[in-house]
Amino acid sequence: MIFRQLFEPASSTYTYLLACPETGVAVLIDPVAEMVERDLRVIGELGLRLAYTLETHVHADHITSGAALREATGCQVAGPAMDGLRCRDVGLQEGEVFRVGTLEIHPLFTPGHTDGHHSYLVDTGSHTMVFTGDGLLIDGCGRTDFQSGDAATLYHSIHDKLFTLPDETLVYPGHDYAGRQLSTIGQEKARNPRLGGGKTEAEFVAIMAGLNLAYPQKIDVALPGNQRCGDGSAQVPSA
Ligand SMILES: [Fe+2]
Repeated sequence: MIFRQLFEPASSTYTYLLACPETGVAVLIDPVAEMVERDLRVIGELGLRLAYTLETHVHADHITSGAALREATGCQVAGPAMDGLRCRDVGLQEGEVFRVGTLEIHPLFTPGHTDGHHSYLVDTGSHTMVFTGDGLLIDGCGRTDFQSGDAATLYHSIHDKLFTLPDETLVYPGHDYAGRQLSTIGQEKARNPRLGGGKTEAEFVAIMAGLNLAYPQKIDVALPGNQRCGDGSAQVPSA
């Protein structure tokens, strides 16, 4: 598989480029509006054709470039079907394989950060990667105190679904605020301070209730922008 981990510094967002080496067809997971030129340059340098953008969830901290990339390349915009967004071309759900050339992407329903949040599992043949969006982060997790978040739901998504993957599965998060790039399921199970080391649901819910996080800076523009797949985001004043 052709693979790049790309970073957007203002929101500390990771965008992932995955492409099929046989067909040159590519997908961008969670692309960011401000990085369209960079992403198109990388795709061009690698000689790929962008077939899809793919969201893990409706973001509150940045605006997707799905609509802009569709405009620029003719790609299709994909994401969880249960988000119910009319601006998307393709809706994914757990149990249905999403194919990009010869790549097989397996959606995993992992609600809790939002009620439609999905992670994406890819087996390259030599290793297994899971793109965890804002569900499981390295030594952390996505917040559960706005949109349709729910801490107990996130606990079960991570413990019952992600933590049942093989320990050597590589974890690629949607964000990292400390420059870390990847982890493993085994490492997060053992040492994630919120969820690892056998933390109970009650302990996790108490940790999340005690975070007292600030209201997200960009949520009032990001949510409506992302509900349009980023279409018209250039006209939205920056927050
Ligand atoms: Fe998010």
